[in-house]
Amino acid sequence: MTTQQPLLVFRWGIISTGEISKAFVKDILLDPKTRGVQDVVHKVAAVGSRNIESAISFVGKLIDTDERTKVYGNYSGVYNDPDVDVVYIGTPHTFHYQNAVDAIKAGKHVLVEKPATTNAAEFRSLVDLAAKHGVFLMEAMWTRFQPIALAVKRVIDEGRIGAPVLVHADLSGDFDIENLPLTHRILDPNLGGGAILDLGPYPLVWAIIALYEHPANRRLKPMVSSSMIKTPLTGVDRSTCFTLNFPELAAQAQLSCNINVPSQSISATLRFRNGNILIPEPLYRPKSFTVQYFDRPSSGKVQREETTHFEVLGGGWHFQADEVARCVRDGKPESSVWGHDKTLLEMEIFDEVRHQGGYRLPEEAI
Ligand SMILES: NC(=O)c1ccc[n+]([C@@H]2O[C@H](COP(=O)([O-])OP(=O)(O)OC[C@H]3O[C@@H](n4cnc5c(N)ncnc54)[C@H](OP(=O)(O)O)[C@@H]3O)[C@@H](O)[C@H]2O)c1
Repeated sequence: MTTQQPLLVFRWGIISTGEISKAFVKDILLDPKTRGVQDVVHKVAAVGSRNIESAISFVGKLIDTDERTKVYGNYSGVYNDPDVDVVYIGTPHTFHYQNAVDAIKAGKHVLVEKPATTNAAEFRSLVDLAAKHGVFLMEAMWTRFQPIALAVKRVIDEGRIGAPVLVHADLSGDFDIENLPLTHRILDPNLGGGAILDLGPYPLVWAIIALYEHPANRRLKPMVSSSMIKTPLTGVDRSTCFTLNFPELAAQAQLSCNINVPSQSISATLRFRNGNILIPEPLYRPKSFTVQYFDRPSSGKVQREETTHFEVLGGGWHFQADEVARCVRDGKPESSVWGHDKTLLEMEIFDEVRHQGGYRLPEEAI
C-alpha cells in the first residue's frame, strides 16, 4: 500500500466491447481501497467499438452516467481523445499489433491484451515505436500481478524449497469446438485461433516466474521443443505441448494447452529440490497455493505442507491496471514486473512452437 503519493486519477480509453473488455472495466471501476490501493483511481474516459450501439450499450451497462464516458463507433476516436491517458486493447489477437500502433502513434500509453502480438517481430516493432513516441507499453499479463503470484515468487526467492528442477503446467478448456462457429476466435486462423496463443501464456507465466526469473538463471533464454495436434476443422492447434530447457539451472518446464479438454484440478506443480508448490485451477487466477516441504532434499517425502488462500474482490484484472497507472505516473517506459523482455521471450517461444508445429497464421502483420 502506498500512502505518500497524491491521488492519481488515471483515464482509460477502451478499444472493443467484447468479453475481456467488460471484465477489465468492471474491475478497474471497483473502489481501489478494497484492494489496499490509496494512490490511484481509474476512470473510463472513452469506449470505442466498431459499432456505436455496442459502445453505448457497454457504457450503459457498466459505467455510471456521472462518469460522462464518451462513446465512439470506431477506435480512432479513442486514440485521438485528449481526455484519454492510456488505451486498453481487448480485440482478438491478430488486431493487437495494428491497434497498438495506432494508439502509440496518437501518443497514448498502451495496455494490450495477451498475447501482446501474434509474433516476436511485431512486438519488437511496438517496443521501438513506443520508445520513439515516449509512451508506456505493456502486455496485459494480469496473472503476474495478482497477490498470489507475488507470494509464490517470494517463497521461491527466499530459497526455502531449494533449487528449481521441473515445472509442470497446463491450461486447457473444453470449448466444445465441434459445435463452435468456425468464425469464433478460438477456431478461426484469421483471428489467431488455437490453444497456443490463447491459453499458452498462462502455463508459460508460471515457468517464467519459477525459472526465467530465478536469480540463478541470469535471465537466460531457454531452448524450446514442442509438439502440436491441429484440428481438421480449421487447422488451428487443438493440443500443444512445449518444453523449455534452462541450461543455467539444469531445469525444465513441461507445459501444455488444449482447447478440447477441461482443466486439471492441480494445474501447475513447481518442483524444487526441497519441496513443491502446487497451484490449483484456474491457472490464470488461482485462489490458493500449497507449499510441500520434503523431509530431506529430493526425498519426495512430504513432511509438512502449508496452504495460503487469497480473497480478491473482483476478477483480478485491476492489479495490472494499478501497475500501468503507477509506471506512467513515474515516467517508466515499461513495467519492472512484466517488462518488454518477458513479452518478447513469450512471443519468441510461441514463434518457435508454431514453427515446429507447422502452424503459420494466414496474415501476420510483420
Ligand atoms: N486477460 C484475460 O483474462 C483474457 C481473457 C479472455 C480473452 N483475453 C484476450 O482478449 C482478446 C479478446 O478476447 P475476448 O474473449 O474478449 O473476445 P471477444 O469477446 O470476441 O471480443 C473481441 C472484441 O474485439 C472487437 N473486434 C474487432 N475486430 C473484430 C473481428 N474481426 N472479429 C471479432 N471481434 C472483433 C469486437 O468489439 P467491437 O465490436 O466492440 O469493436 C469484439 O467484441 C484476445 O486477444 C484474448 O486473448 C484475455
